[in-house]
Amino acid sequence: MKRKLLSMILATAMVATMLVGCSSSGSSETASTPADTGTEAEAPAEAEAEAEAPADTQASGGGKVGVAMPTKDLQRWNQDGSNMEAELIAAGYEVDLQYASNDIATQVSQIENMINSGCELLVIASIDGDSLGTVLEQAKEKNIPVIAYDRLIMNSDAVTYYATFDNYMVGTKQGEYIKEQLDLDNAEGPFNMEVFTGDPGDNNARFFYGGAIDVLQPYIDSGKIVIKSGQLDFETVATANWATETAQSRMDAIISANYADGTKLDAVLCSNDSTALGATNSLEANYTGEWPIITGQDCDKPNVKNMIDGKQSMSIFKDTRTLASKVVEMVDAIMKGGEAPVNDTETYDNGTGVIPSYLCEPVFADASNYKELLIDSGYYTEADIQ
Ligand code: BGC
Repeated sequence: MKRKLLSMILATAMVATMLVGCSSSGSSETASTPADTGTEAEAPAEAEAEAEAPADTQASGGGKVGVAMPTKDLQRWNQDGSNMEAELIAAGYEVDLQYASNDIATQVSQIENMINSGCELLVIASIDGDSLGTVLEQAKEKNIPVIAYDRLIMNSDAVTYYATFDNYMVGTKQGEYIKEQLDLDNAEGPFNMEVFTGDPGDNNARFFYGGAIDVLQPYIDSGKIVIKSGQLDFETVATANWATETAQSRMDAIISANYADGTKLDAVLCSNDSTALGATNSLEANYTGEWPIITGQDCDKPNVKNMIDGKQSMSIFKDTRTLASKVVEMVDAIMKGGEAPVNDTETYDNGTGVIPSYLCEPVFADASNYKELLIDSGYYTEADIQ
């Protein structure tokens, strides 16, 4: 890798050409994945279908890239990891891909190993955005650039770039959906709503929550939306590790205290699919009233099934192939001594300053368009969601 001074990369990135949206074509062209991850990762159908293609046809880079993912428990991270690995290998890089079972100490030691075993660039989807400062000092000392993947790494000046989907937009899409479905500007109401967001250590959770609540707050203030549980502030509605079981038991308690007498629950604002699944499981077991609107994010397979069955109203599709492709583009540019493409230099301050970011656009998904988005695009097969 031809290294440039980190400061130069940062300075030039700030004035880099502003790009709009994400390339949606990159992944299918470059996903000529050679190797299986050697894990139970479920790669999107398209990547699987191309698994036989030779890897060297598009090789351009060289050097070793460390890719640290939070957990294999959630489908999306398996896809993020395997897509990125496949594309990086196809671009000529060696890849050290690790999953950390949602355990912070494991992730720290994996990153340490990557730094000590010759990785020249790190791509990290953090478990806890605040826990990597110390280990990343070592990366900075060795001039190893760091791309924060999907989740921003906080309070570390070792972070060179951030690549994610527009997290605030995810939240506004969820909030707007509830607003439209309940016809909040015209209907009389009041409507009962409950709220579930994600892990408090995940910076994204605050953006998802903030985007949705910014849309809905006026209706909460006017009394058109009622939160019967009284649980609305971020810390109270946060879900540690985004765990389905945690969301489910919190919903159990909310139903038994507020909706057991047949009181109608009109909407459940869930920041993602794992929390939506918990809320849905609980409602199925405990709630007898008319089924509420339930939001989500990720288009995880069980949630797509629930959308088809009418148990979840919508999700947000964040095509992991798109993000993976964009990150591979960023890696390639940095490894060749250039600047990575960015399209946002204002939004994501990690406590040490704004991190130049590339934000991909999240897409609304529901039972009416899932076929086009997920099946026709090769993300899933029909069998995946039956
Ligand atoms: C991601 C979401 C995901 C959540 C739980 C967030 O940081 O942006 O897509 O649902 O983590 O893994």
